Amino acid sequence: MAHATNDIQAVRMALGPGIVLSTDAIFLSTIIIIMMVRTIDLRLTVLALMPLPFMVAVVTGFGRVIHRRFKLVQEAFSSLSDRAQENFSGIRVVKGFAQEAAEMDRFRAVNQTNVDKNMHLVRVWGLFMPLVQFLSALSFIIALGYGGIMVIDGTITLGDFVAFNSYLAMLTWPMLAIGWVMNMIQRGKASMDRLNALFDERPEIYDEEDVLPIEKLQGEVEFRHLNFTYPGSDEAALKDISFSVPAGHTLGILGRTGSGKTTLVNLLLRLFNAPRGTVFIDGVDIRKIPLETLREQVGYVPQDNFLFSTTIRSNVDFADTKRAPEDIEEYTKLAQVYDNIAEFPKKFDTLVGERGVTLSGGQKQRLSIARALVKEPSILIMDDSLSAVDTETEEAILNNLKGVMAARTTILIAHRISTLKQADQIVVIDEGSVIQQGTHEQLIAEPGLYKELYEKQLLEEEIESAG
Ligand SMILES: Nc1ncnc2c1ncn2[C@@H]1O[C@H](COP(=O)(O)OP(=O)(O)OP(=O)(O)O)[C@@H](O)[C@H]1O
Ligand SMILES: [Mg+2]
Repeated sequence: MAHATNDIQAVRMALGPGIVLSTDAIFLSTIIIIMMVRTIDLRLTVLALMPLPFMVAVVTGFGRVIHRRFKLVQEAFSSLSDRAQENFSGIRVVKGFAQEAAEMDRFRAVNQTNVDKNMHLVRVWGLFMPLVQFLSALSFIIALGYGGIMVIDGTITLGDFVAFNSYLAMLTWPMLAIGWVMNMIQRGKASMDRLNALFDERPEIYDEEDVLPIEKLQGEVEFRHLNFTYPGSDEAALKDISFSVPAGHTLGILGRTGSGKTTLVNLLLRLFNAPRGTVFIDGVDIRKIPLETLREQVGYVPQDNFLFSTTIRSNVDFADTKRAPEDIEEYTKLAQVYDNIAEFPKKFDTLVGERGVTLSGGQKQRLSIARALVKEPSILIMDDSLSAVDTETEEAILNNLKGVMAARTTILIAHRISTLKQADQIVVIDEGSVIQQGTHEQLIAEPGLYKELYEKQLLEEEIESAG
């Protein structure tokens, strides 16, 4: 946003007003000085113009300082407004933690910085205009004094004297303009450099030369000795992952928090690049599948269920499939969120977010499931997408999925065994490695993390139903 506002504006100022002003200033001052020398007197001109170069210097020098301090003022103001905005949007957290007094102190500190930076600016600003006026007045004093004497001597006429004073008055503006323009061009150049650096950025993930013309995916997924470390991190997030999922199967992934489940699907969607020869769909290295095909054919329900501040309909059909309203409604029924939507006064036209309704965590989650289903994907990935619904709703959604996803691949990530137990195959991940693999029946029969979690969750359920 700073690039889009400040930098583009600076380039515009250097190109537009900068060029107009400099043409204007150069043209005017040349003609005026020629007229002064040719029609009046050379000595008077030289003497009267002596303070003017200082004026250019003052404008250039002060302009730079003023600009620098002005930027600090803008920064101080933006942290002040950020602070205020955070305090308002997080007001419940502030109150819940009894931090009102502390937050006020913090706000006061930021506000004080804002005052200080403004004072800092005002001090140079207050010096600048009087200094410019002083220098221009100095020219006039010389013109009046020396020019007056010349009139008394009869060297120049009274008419020349009046004309000279008018010329001098006309010169003040171009001198100011030259100073400003020099600053504008410098600033414009610096901004242009920053913008060019941005324009030269290339996405890290793109279709490489050996990409194949694939438009449809069947949904067979395979990982082969996949090792992956996040850029900038020094610990591997995934270590030697190998397993495969036939098209049409349901894969369950279970693992403790931070074990690498989301990382695995990030790689499948190529949100990060996996090394070549490690991730395959339909037997093709995903680095050779066009990004567009890949992301069109995969339905992704992200862990954070991000929704946009628009209508429910546009959120559900975010992939812009242009399906008929009844079809879109059908998918919300499959995701068990239709009844919630039907209760809103504006139904599918209800706005979500700050200017509309605030959805519960579970409603958001189910809307984001519907959003993925509408794409009718070849591979559906649900990253912990049933965590905010009760077990009954979970069962209903899973049953519905069995129907629509029958011929397609589903990847379910969960912490709860109940979500996964129906899966054709379950992979247990711990600290980035696959530690167990099999069906629910196989896994509960062998000692290990799966059985531990299963028994713990059974116990929890029993306690719940007993209570
Ligand atoms: N963008 C990233 N950059 C660097 N490290 C990351 C990044 N995202 C995740 N990690 C690290 O990778 C590891 C695996 O994280 P991941 O998000 O895959 O866990 P997870 O199994 O999905 O956990 P959860 O169940 O809490 O969602 C963690 O140690 C995490 O800190
Ligand atoms: Mg995760």
